[in-house]
Amino acid sequence: MQKVRKAVIPAAGLGTRFLPATKAIAKEMLPIVDKPTIQFIVEEALNSGIEDILIVTGKGKRPIEDHFDSNVELEMNLSSKGKKELLDLVEETTGINLHFIRQKRPLGLGHAVLQAKAFVGNEPFVVMLGDDIMESKVPLTKQLMNDYEKTTASTLAVMKVPHKDTSKYGIINPNSEISKGLYNVKNFVEKPNPKEAPSDLAIIGRYLLTPEIFDILENQKPGAGNEIQLTDAIDNLNKTQRVFARQYTGKRYDVGDKLGMVEANIEYGLKHKEISVSLKEYIKELAKTF
Ligand code: G1P
Repeated sequence: MQKVRKAVIPAAGLGTRFLPATKAIAKEMLPIVDKPTIQFIVEEALNSGIEDILIVTGKGKRPIEDHFDSNVELEMNLSSKGKKELLDLVEETTGINLHFIRQKRPLGLGHAVLQAKAFVGNEPFVVMLGDDIMESKVPLTKQLMNDYEKTTASTLAVMKVPHKDTSKYGIINPNSEISKGLYNVKNFVEKPNPKEAPSDLAIIGRYLLTPEIFDILENQKPGAGNEIQLTDAIDNLNKTQRVFARQYTGKRYDVGDKLGMVEANIEYGLKHKEISVSLKEYIKELAKTF
């Protein structure tokens, strides 16, 4: 069995849901308190044992590369002022095996993942979407890797969502539950309206895929939103090899959404050693005025 060593993080999206903030700033650099959202994703990959990460970027995404590069001037400045803790924080994001490639045109998530073909080669790999920040004892990516060790098959993470929201997600049509929380899937549908949705189990931005997905993506016709959809390619993959869905039960923050972003900031802030006490007090006081 091949080991899963590589992750692909698509980060080429325009971030239109956060305009005007994202007019000049990559949405992946928007912070949760003091940490850019993409750093949470990279940390989940590393905590899962991933060794090499490819970030698929696009126009205006250079700050992501800079964030994971060393900043000698800043490091010297912090060091000369004896700011050891800040220096450690700044250095934490360098020295990771990161690679970058640009998606030249915004043709969809499937097309973004296709850019990783040469990087991935003939190995199983994971795709991690930046809009979903996960928090669980065993990182979700690691859970998918554990499943792969048993099944050697592609597996996507899914979660129950409110029925009215099915049109925001890829939705699975589950077949049977082969072991606790692991489903065989009849088919996958990208963003069905609630009337046509085969279930309320939505794909939530973590995929473990076999490399055969690339041959399919190369020939995949545009689907929902006239974009080349990863979900459609996975549906085709499922016709020739098994694709499973793992139901996730941990916490998920949808930081691609304004409310989800604020929630993530509040909850992360409540755990942040510098501000947790004051923030708790503030929220208590504020709640009295509702
Ligand atoms: C993408 C996928 C969708 C998935 C979602 C999870 O959609 O196309 O299948 O459910 O991510 O966040 P997007 O949110 O990029 O429109």
